[in-house]
This record gives sequence, C-alpha cells and structure tokens, in this order.
Amino acid sequence: MEVRKVVLTEDEMPRQWYNILADIKMNPPLGPDGKPIGPEMLAPVFPMNLIEQEVSTERWIDIPEEVIKVLQIWRPSPLVRALTLEKALGTPARIYFKNESVSPPGSHKPNTAVPQAYYNKVFGIKRMTTETGAGQWGSALSFACSQFGIECKIFMVRISFDQKPYRKSMMEAWGGKCVASPSTETKAGRDILAKYPDTPGSLGIAISEAVEAAVSDQSGKTRYSLGSVLNHVMLHQTIIGLEAKKQMEKIGEYPDVIIGCAGGGSNFAGLAFPYVYDKINGKEIEIYPVEPAACPTMTKAPFVYDHGDTAGYTPLLPMHSLGHTFMPPPIHAGGLRYHGMAPTVSQLVTEGIITPKAVAQTPAYEAGVLFARTEGIIPAPETTHALATVIEEAKKAKEEGKEKVILFNWSGHGLLDLGAYDKYFACELEDCVLSEEEISKSKKVFEKFPKPQKLVSRIR
Ligand SMILES: Cc1ncc(COP(=O)(O)O)c(C=O)c1O
Repeated sequence: MEVRKVVLTEDEMPRQWYNILADIKMNPPLGPDGKPIGPEMLAPVFPMNLIEQEVSTERWIDIPEEVIKVLQIWRPSPLVRALTLEKALGTPARIYFKNESVSPPGSHKPNTAVPQAYYNKVFGIKRMTTETGAGQWGSALSFACSQFGIECKIFMVRISFDQKPYRKSMMEAWGGKCVASPSTETKAGRDILAKYPDTPGSLGIAISEAVEAAVSDQSGKTRYSLGSVLNHVMLHQTIIGLEAKKQMEKIGEYPDVIIGCAGGGSNFAGLAFPYVYDKINGKEIEIYPVEPAACPTMTKAPFVYDHGDTAGYTPLLPMHSLGHTFMPPPIHAGGLRYHGMAPTVSQLVTEGIITPKAVAQTPAYEAGVLFARTEGIIPAPETTHALATVIEEAKKAKEEGKEKVILFNWSGHGLLDLGAYDKYFACELEDCVLSEEEISKSKKVFEKFPKPQKLVSRIR
C-alpha cells in the first residue's frame, strides 16, 4: 500500500521552535529618528516577553507546556501525499503537503495566535487588538484568546468583511468583537474614510487601527497582536516545518522543492525556515515563496526601509515593499493583499537563498479547483497560489523526466471563501497586473527613508 498520510503522535510534537535570527544577518528596525529602536520602544504595543522573543538570537526556543496543551487540539498536523493529483498530472514528482487546515479556525494562523495569547496572559494583559485580511487570522486570535480568557477586538479589512460575513460569526462564536476597517473608531480609520469613503480597505490600514486601539487604552492592559511579518510570528510557525521534517524522515523522503504562498510570509516561513537552515548548511533545495501578481512585493518591489502599516505607526522595517500607502487591488486572496513582506523572508530573497514567484488569481483558482477535484479538500484562495506553483513544478518534472520531491504548505481551507469560487466559475474574476507607472508612484513614500545595508549571511 502506498503511504498517503504520515502522522506523528502527540509525544513526537516538537518542543522547541527554530529561530532563524541565529543564522542570518538582519538590518535593525528603525525609529522615527532613523536610529535602531530598543525593545522598550515596543513596550506600549507588545508585552515584553514577546518583545524578547522578537529580538532573540537563540537558535532554539522552548515551547511552553501550556501552549503545547492547546496546540494538541489539532497538532501534529498530517503530512499528506497528493497521490491523486500526481496521477492527474501524470508527473513522476512526489507531492507532499502539510495540511494546516485542520486547526479549529481552518489555517496555520493559530500556531502563533496561541503562543501570543499565552504570553499576553502571562504578562497580565486583559484585551488584545488585531487586524485581519482574509478573516483567518482574526478567527485564530479570537479562538486563542478564548482559550486563555482574554478579550479580543478585530479590525477586518472592509472588502473581506463584506465578502465573508461568516468569518465575523466565527470570531463572535469565540467571543471576539469584529468591525470593518477602516472604521470610525480610530483616527487612522477616520482619516482614510474622509479621503476615500468607498475604500475596500487594506491590511496596512487595519494594522494602523488595531495598533492605535491598543496604545490608546489608558488602562495599560491592552496590547496589539500581529498575525504575520514579525520575527516572533515566523518563529512560532516553524512548528510546521519541524513536524514536516520528522514526518518525511519517517518515510525516507527529503524535499527537492519547498513552496508556500506568502502574504506577510508566515506560513511560508513556518514550513521553509527549518529547511533554509539545511540550505545554509549545504543542502541543495529550491525554496519558493509565492505571491499574487496583483501585489508583487518580492518579485517587483525593492528591498527598503518602510512602515508596516498605512498610518506610519510602526517602526521602519527592512523589507520588500510596494510602499505603505499602496492600496492592493481587491483580489479574493485577502490574506495576500499586503504592501510589505516579513523582514526575515525579505532578507533571504535579497541573498538569493529563496526565489520568489508571482501567480495571477485565475490560474490560482484553476489550480485550486483541480486540487479539490483530485485530493478532495477545497483550498483557501491564498493557498491556491502555492498550488499553482506546485502544479507548474510537477509539470516541469514530467517534461524533464525527473523524480522530484515537492513539499508545500496547505495553509488553509476555503470553506468560507466559496463566494470567490462562484465568481471564478461565473468567469467574473479579473487578473490585475500592476503597471510600472503605478509601482513607481507607490514607491515615492519611502524615498526619504534610510536604506538598508546589503548583508550576506550565507555560509559559502
Ligand atoms: C489561508 C491563508 N494562507 C496564507 C495567508 C497569508 O499569510 P502569511 O503569509 O502570513 O502566511 C493567509 C492570511 O490571512 C491565510 O489566511
């Protein structure tokens, strides 16, 4: 019998996260004066125990037992071989995926929501605020806060709020409160609405609103939480890749190609970083983060210092950015509509350790539908971007007659994204390609900021 699914026991779940900051060089985040910021400057926004993780350069960081207990609700997640998809493609490639959709909210997002809620609880925080693009992150934090008895407030990007009303219902089922962003509850939201009353919103705007809501609470008991981009988020997600390594080892496999979709970079990093460690230490692996062609951060935008949010509340981060005021087109993969990219992922791109790809939304849905009709599960619009690249690689293996092993992250299910599938079936989806002129215009916002240094971490 061919192996279809590799599972780990709960005992075999990793007990430490992998911290890539031990193995790569990074430009520091900068404050408004252009000088590197110290941990204390982040204290009004995040609890100090998470700030310590954000700046830690320890390679291995213990996962607290209380976090493990909650992760056990759905982890370890299965590693699945896409046998039916392989057959449909007639490829000699063996395709494996980590099914992160088995978590209660349906994606990889609770891998960091749970530790973030835990560290906030330990620090004495009573209320957390956040943004959500696709609705997956908002649901994940709402779920995690319910596990630790913390209040949760979510600013949901307007277009997703309208497209996916049941995501709000999920957040409310776990006790969270969700409003559409931009909202009238914050200065950042009101300013945007005054200028653009019909805006579809963006992750950058929703982040500004959530940060403002946290720091303006005079009780000092509210903190902000970010679902991607930051170092500690990437750290928490590495449980995916660490599990995958154990699972592949069990069946004597090692990947030639690793693929994950990338919005802020966290599900990609979660799977890829433990393998980046191997690559830095001499293994030959191709590693592809995949972004939407409509929001081409890594494939078209430069590596610069820019704000992580639209209002400019966050420090300047070294990253690939389309400009913090860039308004991504209203594609259905809401979780990929972000102007920037995680600094760690950006650094690896600039060093050529990983190779970004861009996919338009129609071929992405085409891949998603093929997957649903072969493997049976319906992917989130974000995940379909990874899938399109997996299929391209599998076809390439067929042309070359190579027995490649492809591993990718199945970041979430699309059961609350069916409106987008309806649009695809009705041929109502458009493939938006940004013109060079639009990209140049949006880049003006960071022209005056300092430039990051070109650092080289790779051991040669
Ligand atoms: C299912 C799914 N995949 C991927 C992403 C992209 O986020 P990240 O790049 O942080 O993994 C999201 C974000 O909301 C998501 O919901």
